[in-house]
Amino acid sequence: MPWSLRALLDRFRPDPVAILAQRGYHLVDGSYGAPPSLIYLMHENRRAGFIELSWSSLDTISNFGIMIYPAYRNRGLGTLLLQALIALARNRGVATIHGLVRRQDLAAQPHLLRWYRENGFATIEAQSIVTAAWLLFEFRRGAKT
Ligand SMILES: CC(C)(COP(=O)(O)OP(=O)(O)OC[C@H]1O[C@@H](n2cnc3c(N)ncnc32)[C@H](O)[C@@H]1OP(=O)(O)O)[C@@H](O)C(=O)NCCC(=O)NCCS
Repeated sequence: MPWSLRALLDRFRPDPVAILAQRGYHLVDGSYGAPPSLIYLMHENRRAGFIELSWSSLDTISNFGIMIYPAYRNRGLGTLLLQALIALARNRGVATIHGLVRRQDLAAQPHLLRWYRENGFATIEAQSIVTAAWLLFEFRRGAKT
C-alpha cells in the first residue's frame, strides 16, 4: 500500500475542524477573496468568535487576531480555532505565521503567552510600549510540523 510519512502524520493529527463540528461549531469564511482574511467561528447561527489574517505573501501570515466572545471562553474553543488556523496555513503551504501580543491583552490575560506556547508558537519579548511579545509559528520545510 503506498504511503508517505507525511500522510501517516496527517492521519494521526487531530483535526480541529472535525472536533469543532462534533461540538456543534463550524467555520465560515467571511473574506472577500483569497487568501482568507476573516474566518468566523459559528455556533448554530451565532458568532462565537473569529480570526483575522494579514498576509505579506502567499507563504507568510504577517499578523493575525483571534477573538472568542466572552460567553464562549475557557472551554477549549480558542485552542481549537487557533489549531484550525495552523491547519489552514499548513494546507496552504504557509512557511511562517507571525503575530503579536499587546501589553493591554497580556495584562487582561496573564496566561496568554503560555497559551500560545502550548499551541506551538515561539514567543519573543518585545521592547515596545504597545507590544509585549512577538509570536512566531514555523512550519518545518518538508517535515510538516
Ligand atoms: C485568548 C482567547 C482567544 C482564548 O480563547 P478561549 O476559548 O478562552 O481559549 P481556551 O478555552 O482554548 O483556553 C483558555 C483557557 O481555558 C482552558 N481550557 C481549555 N479547554 C477547557 C475546557 N474544556 N474547560 C475549561 N477550561 C478549558 C485552557 O487550558 C486555558 O487555560 P490557561 O489560560 O490557564 O492556559 C480569548 O480569551 C479571547 O478572545 N481573548 C480576548 C482577545 C485576545 O486577547 N486575543 C488574543 C490577542 S493576542
